[in-house]
Amino acid sequence: MGEITGLKADLVQIVRLALAEQTEDVRLFAARLVRKYRGTEPELAEQVDLYLRSKPQRAGAPLRKAIAPSQQNEVLPVDDESRLSLLKVFKDPSDREAPLLSADLEESLGQLILERKQASRLASLGLTPTRSAIFVGQPGVGKTLTARWLAAQLGVPLYVLDLTAVMSSLLGRSGSNLRTALDFAKRSPCVLLLDEIDAIAKRRSDDADVGELKRLVTVILQEVDEWPATGLLLAATNHPELIDPALWRRFDLVVDFKLPEPTSIKEAIKRFLGPDFALFGRWMEILVFAFQGHSFSDIEREIQRFRRALALGTASDENLIEEFIKARALSLERQGRIDMAVLLAKQTRLSQHSISEITGVSRDTIRKYTTDGKSAVSQKRRREA
Ligand SMILES: Nc1ncnc2c1ncn2[C@@H]1O[C@H](COP(=O)(O)OP(=O)(O)O)[C@@H](O)[C@H]1O
Ligand SMILES: [Mg+2]
Repeated sequence: MGEITGLKADLVQIVRLALAEQTEDVRLFAARLVRKYRGTEPELAEQVDLYLRSKPQRAGAPLRKAIAPSQQNEVLPVDDESRLSLLKVFKDPSDREAPLLSADLEESLGQLILERKQASRLASLGLTPTRSAIFVGQPGVGKTLTARWLAAQLGVPLYVLDLTAVMSSLLGRSGSNLRTALDFAKRSPCVLLLDEIDAIAKRRSDDADVGELKRLVTVILQEVDEWPATGLLLAATNHPELIDPALWRRFDLVVDFKLPEPTSIKEAIKRFLGPDFALFGRWMEILVFAFQGHSFSDIEREIQRFRRALALGTASDENLIEEFIKARALSLERQGRIDMAVLLAKQTRLSQHSISEITGVSRDTIRKYTTDGKSAVSQKRRREA
């Protein structure tokens, strides 16, 4: 094969640059071609020039500059069509308050942080730290919050990839948008969170464009495998059952976020009440009971509501609690309502009449359960079990 010269060599060069996704270099090179061929190949030059003009330099283009990790003003990738920023950035101080975590979660996340801090020690033994983890759990249990905290602990920014933004872009482009975002995140030490990763899976079942969504999953599969140990790749989902098993297997670590246990509920109430704890403290056991089966964000929302009403003087703490318990009782089974009535009888000075009204449990039943105390409740439970 003879040496390729002239136009052919230029063609080869531009293919090379394009495949390396060096978009800026492609531009510069194309501009050079326009000048070079204006005399000999005017039509070719004009056509290339036209393309250059019709596709002005975009915000995401000078990414090449961002290769230096220390560079501060990195340009975040943006979807060309919608101009939505594909990545959200969080840079939190390392003393950011830790999320409330169960003991086993605290342990596995502690280990993850330790591995990062001792990365060179691991490396000397031929080991790499955990590179990827998937957070599973119902909404409002702290998956996103924990990702933020982890990044802050590691002293790196958190990038959150908004998969809805990726997919709201023209479907045909979402694969390349995803790659742009992932490539960006791979270039510097950071934590990247693919939040609500099931969004892709969900779309797969009700969208005509199955092929494109499959491609997205493939891109993610590859990335999880090849993620550099300098970064940490996280994914979060409320719907583990929708996640492709092939994807699932690729994560180094699965972190299961459960609904809070009574001890965590108590801590959460305390934290969210802040200075109003003094006032609400006496309702603690009742609140802990009422919040069972609810997420941290439910608890936070409710407590914030109490605090606002109190601050504006629109209700007393007693009113607020009564209203709240009443609403909660509606969703409880009979035994739950009885347990709540017993608790109210023991913990408050409410009359049996009010307790009956709040919980919908008859006064007779309340009397029956409270006179023989706790044992009646547990006996009944045992019988039912
Ligand atoms: N484990 C937690 N500890 C403290 N606050 C929490 C926790 N989980 C949730 N919250 C509160 O609820 C909000 C929503 O939580 P988030 O992390 O977005 O939930 P998820 O991502 O699991 O749906 C948080 O901003 C925080 O105020
Ligand atoms: Mg979330």
